[in-house]
Amino acid sequence: MSIHALNRTTFGNPNNAGNLMPVEEAHALLNDWVPNERLRLHMKQVAAVMKAWAIEREGASEQTALKWELAGLLHDADWEKHPDDHCRVIIEELERRNMDPEVIHCIASHDPRYFGVEPQNKMDRMIYVFDELSGFIHASALIRPTRYEGMDVKGILKKLKTPSFAAQVSRDDINDALSRIDTPLEEIIQFIIDHQKNIS
Ligand SMILES: [Fe+2]
Ligand SMILES: [Fe+2]
Repeated sequence: MSIHALNRTTFGNPNNAGNLMPVEEAHALLNDWVPNERLRLHMKQVAAVMKAWAIEREGASEQTALKWELAGLLHDADWEKHPDDHCRVIIEELERRNMDPEVIHCIASHDPRYFGVEPQNKMDRMIYVFDELSGFIHASALIRPTRYEGMDVKGILKKLKTPSFAAQVSRDDINDALSRIDTPLEEIIQFIIDHQKNIS
């Protein structure tokens, strides 16, 4: 087990179910905790993809879509200032703020092989699927002169099979994440491209 294992399986307080913060408050927290613009963009992209998936593919209510969005926005909030305690610090902060326990669990399970927390529901499984792939697709956009313009799934698939490209992105994590859902990789890639290309 990773040294970053959280060694916990329950998060937040069930009495806080449905307790969400306005999206503006999450953005304020990000601005405060994450000076690195590139990292903030990563979280905004994951949030946009999560929210879109909740609405378009899960038929989620506005309240439920906000949960997905907040999990995406906050999942790496402590990464820049607390790399050795990544996840633990933001989880404890959100517990202090009485955040909905499902949002906290989703953040805690965004990398199960690292934090030792298994995804339980669809929201948990999708943040795991989107996290690495979103970053990978953005890295691919940055080396293209036209960025997202004209980007296609085939090009991304090819880069995924090139171990030296964005080598820090774990292909094992991507495969493990995909093995837990029914949607094929090609469809996920297209969904991410469509929903994160205009986020800035
Ligand atoms: Fe992370
Ligand atoms: Fe992330």
